Amino acid sequence: MSRKNLALALMAILVVMSLILSACATPTAAPTEEAPAATEAPAEPETPTEAAPAATEAPAATEAPMADEVEVFSWWTGGGEAAGLEAMIKIFNEQYPNITFVNSAVAGGAGTNARAVLATRLQAGDPPDSWQGHAGQELIGTYVKDQKIEPLNDLYAQEGWLEVMPETLIPLISADGNIYSVPVNIHRANVLWANPTILADNSITMPTTLDEWFAAMDTLQAAGVTPLALGEQWTNMHLMETVLLASLGPEAYNGLWSGTTDWGSPEVKTALENYVKVLTYTNSDAASLSWQDAAQLVVDGNAAFNVMGDWAEGFFRELGKAPTTDYLWAAVPGTGGNFQFLSDSFVLAVGAPHRDAAIAWLITAGSKAGQDAFNPVKGSIPARSDGDRSLYGEYLQSAMDDWASNTVVGSLTHGVVANDSWKSEIDTALGLFLQDKNVETFQAALVAACQASGPCQ
Ligand code: GAL
Repeated sequence: MSRKNLALALMAILVVMSLILSACATPTAAPTEEAPAATEAPAEPETPTEAAPAATEAPAATEAPMADEVEVFSWWTGGGEAAGLEAMIKIFNEQYPNITFVNSAVAGGAGTNARAVLATRLQAGDPPDSWQGHAGQELIGTYVKDQKIEPLNDLYAQEGWLEVMPETLIPLISADGNIYSVPVNIHRANVLWANPTILADNSITMPTTLDEWFAAMDTLQAAGVTPLALGEQWTNMHLMETVLLASLGPEAYNGLWSGTTDWGSPEVKTALENYVKVLTYTNSDAASLSWQDAAQLVVDGNAAFNVMGDWAEGFFRELGKAPTTDYLWAAVPGTGGNFQFLSDSFVLAVGAPHRDAAIAWLITAGSKAGQDAFNPVKGSIPARSDGDRSLYGEYLQSAMDDWASNTVVGSLTHGVVANDSWKSEIDTALGLFLQDKNVETFQAALVAACQASGPCQ
């Protein structure tokens, strides 16, 4: 090979080598160009070692939304209740876009299942950040007594809630000068729902006294219609508390819980006899029906009446039913002028795993926007006194008027008047009563329950 040719060959080799080198250089450049993309999508799995420094460089932007979450526990999983909760979560997401809402709802009306799950978790030291608890003895006699929840006085001051939450409610969520929960609503327990067509077909108008109700249900029974739809056991306790109120009146009803009304009195016996009579008009498969199943019998035209709290209205709306056309309402006969109430509230767990996020949730739950999103769907009125009335349907507007003008008494089934142990003893007695329908035995058991866990000790 001549020198010239050798030089040409060497040049050719150099050119090829530089081409090869520049080809090899391309992949090394690529990650640098792709680096911003990797930061935008930190989960990119291919180059974990390279991604790590990038993540440390921009921790706030990429990690905060993943890390911040709040676990909220309730029993709102269906029938208007889940929809109401979703509406409030939507507001929460708008107010706190960086916090992930973890919905730990456990199915089962009135919290029968959920509260058992919650009790187990609390016992195991594994609390959700926040949970649904009823204002009244359920809250004070259980969670406060067991030191499971934190006082919220500072939050009340910060949010100005004392100016907007009803005065009647504050004592029911307070102990020793501390306020322990954030009420989201007011529900009414003593509501009679009815199917308008069935009533019209049988020439029945909404009954206002127990006697009128019995007469109407006799007519319906004779016509082969199920007069009163009923569900599982807690709906039975719910029915019973409304008949106790109807039979005793508000003062003596309140006395059952304060100790001034004798559970062994003839008046209470008459009330229990009224209750056992009401039960003769109910469907035989009650024990296997949820509250939604029982309420649906009315709007589907398979039963004339149902006694249920006004969450039933949220459920009827979910089903696409319209007020007055598909369902009527009135106070349970004999309870007109009385508002048997309960209130759902949210608490802050002692040792909440995500305390700041839980406080953010409570702020939404106590806010006007949160309450006005939740309640029209849930079938309740806002706990706050400044809710926007125009957002609420016909039934709920009537409930607002009644809440403002009626005599207010508390619900047993939904945590206002009795602590958990007393309520559970009443429930046990009720379970036996539903088997044997023996009023004397039942009354004796109720007297014993008041002596064991109530104010008759
Ligand atoms: C109540 C609760 C209501 C509704 C109802 C039926 O105890 O306060 O919000 O959920 O149970 O599940």
